[in-house]
Amino acid sequence: MRKLTTASRRDFLRKTALAGSALLVADFPLLAFNGSPNEKLVVGVMGTNSRGEYLASLFSALPNVEVGAICDVDSKVLAKTIALIEKKTGKKPKAFTDVRKMLESKDIDALVAAPPDHWHAPATMLGVQAGKHVYVEKPCSHNPAEGEMLVKAAKKYNRLIQMGNQRRSFPGVQHAMQELKDGIIGRPYFAKGWYSNNRGSIGTGKLVPVPDHLNYDLWQGPAPRRPYQDNLIHYNWHWFWHWGTGEALNNGTHELDVMRWGLGVSFPTKVVSAGGRFQFKDDWQTPDTQTITYEFPNNTAITWESRSCNIYPEEGSTRGVIFYGTQGSLVIPGGDDYRIHDEKGKLVREVKSNVGQIEATNVGMGETLDALHLINFADSIRGKTTLTSPITEGQISTLLPQLGNIAYRTGSVLHCDASNGHIINNSAATKLWTREYEKGWAPTL
Ligand SMILES: NC(=O)c1ccc[n+]([C@@H]2O[C@H](COP(=O)([O-])OP(=O)(O)OC[C@H]3O[C@@H](n4cnc5c(N)ncnc54)[C@H](O)[C@@H]3O)[C@@H](O)[C@H]2O)c1
Repeated sequence: MRKLTTASRRDFLRKTALAGSALLVADFPLLAFNGSPNEKLVVGVMGTNSRGEYLASLFSALPNVEVGAICDVDSKVLAKTIALIEKKTGKKPKAFTDVRKMLESKDIDALVAAPPDHWHAPATMLGVQAGKHVYVEKPCSHNPAEGEMLVKAAKKYNRLIQMGNQRRSFPGVQHAMQELKDGIIGRPYFAKGWYSNNRGSIGTGKLVPVPDHLNYDLWQGPAPRRPYQDNLIHYNWHWFWHWGTGEALNNGTHELDVMRWGLGVSFPTKVVSAGGRFQFKDDWQTPDTQTITYEFPNNTAITWESRSCNIYPEEGSTRGVIFYGTQGSLVIPGGDDYRIHDEKGKLVREVKSNVGQIEATNVGMGETLDALHLINFADSIRGKTTLTSPITEGQISTLLPQLGNIAYRTGSVLHCDASNGHIINNSAATKLWTREYEKGWAPTL
């Protein structure tokens, strides 16, 4: 195994940039890589309280991948993740509080971004502008305008941007998608997806001093400044529109991604949504119960349902999708297994994943399955394969739940341009296409 020196890594990055620029007309430029396909990649991981630490740990276990740096604005989180990676690999990653400083490191090839949602697109922009490939957690953006910017940025800066919709790399799900395409249930015309959980109340927050170990200014980053409250960090920001995106993007992105993949659809023509904060009376702003329904131009429709506070399962699973077709149905209950039923509803075949059991937790679907997506990212940078979830796809799968939330928040039926998902003739809804940024923090192309 040849190790890349800083100079040869720079050379590798320069060569991939040059090779890629000749291919800009292609939608997903395959970055040619002139060295050994096994050369070492160094990643810097941003935001490691929970999912980010899991990703750092998975990346550190991949062959020829090094977690060279960790960045977190919470010094306690930073210390715990650095200790974990050092324990696992025997090598201590460099520590950063400010992602902009980490991105100045010449020896980092890729940014792995798992901070809160309001940071996803701005961090990805900083990453590609610093010449790094980016693995960004889902949802790739906080609002639709940011998602569109990322698609342009991947081309402009000729960098790979992979979203963390890891089901795109699950072999069983890939096989199910191929079977749908081959007509196993005739023409699939409707898909239903769901997510359920038993999340507790977040209570009513009190304004308190920012803890010593947290850089709240950097945590807020692109979001206009708000006073610190004690029921926001970590994790509960998900349920505040200012930083989070609700269950629709937190979990719906995964199932909506699979459903539109299976139906072969992109942008909807019509979107409706209903729901509310039904279970508790507290600071939680996004709906804890929500349905979103979409119509697409080719006589197909999708419905997604979430219950954040009632975990009652469907099809024996707290999450999943069902495809309905002219000659039967195909069920994917959450992980990498699937079932096919005939037009009378009778089970025809059950397909078990060849990857093994699912150990779903709140950080992912189990290491064996989730690592496949990271391997795909690393191997795509090395030019050995192409991304299973390039940002062109991730952007659309993020836009779908965003449109659902916009329909919910404005109480309107959205009519959309089927060529790009843009909202037609609805100024209140169009206002939510983007957001206000803290002065000096707006991402720019
Ligand atoms: N793909 C999946 O299956 C999956 C699973 C879980 C979470 N996620 C996604 O991962 C992201 C993180 O989720 P989480 O549950 O770990 O959230 P979390 O709030 O527990 O952790 C976020 C971390 O980011 C850090 N952070 C905030 N701003 C930062 C900045 N500017 N620089 C560096 N670090 C910063 C915080 O201090 C914290 O440690 C979310 O967007 C979530 O949707 C994806």
